[in-house]
Amino acid sequence: MTGQELMNAAKKAMMNAYAPYSGYFVGAAVETADGSVFTGCNVENASYSPTNCAERTAIFKAVSEGHRKIVAVAVCGGKGGSLTGFFPPCGVCRQVMAEFCDPDTPVYLVGKDDEYKVVALKDLLPHGFDNSFMDM
Ligand code: THU
Repeated sequence: MTGQELMNAAKKAMMNAYAPYSGYFVGAAVETADGSVFTGCNVENASYSPTNCAERTAIFKAVSEGHRKIVAVAVCGGKGGSLTGFFPPCGVCRQVMAEFCDPDTPVYLVGKDDEYKVVALKDLLPHGFDNSFMDM
């Protein structure tokens, strides 16, 4: 799967966002080691804090279906689903990515028009905490 195809999958998933409180629609797609793709959207809640980000929805879908190695991520978002600029993943989602991605894993960020940028996870989460710090 190309980065462009993964970004297209994220855009499609974004349209399922449940975002009645913020109005921000976010979509994500992750490719797993065997080439499977899992997508997700943000799912908000009247109590706010139970809200789940699009990236974690996609990653948790993959892991819950037995796919623990993520090799590429794509994220997009914007007010009402209009893509007016990059929508970078929040810190919690970066931490969850670090659990299932290598530091060099490409994260495709969809921008406006046909713009995008690719950032390695290690550049989104420098000096991150991972299982190498755990007494396994
Ligand atoms: N959101 C995501 O889905 N992913 C992120 O990485 C950042 C924020 C969602 C959560 C909430 O529904 C909305 O965007 C506004 O914060």
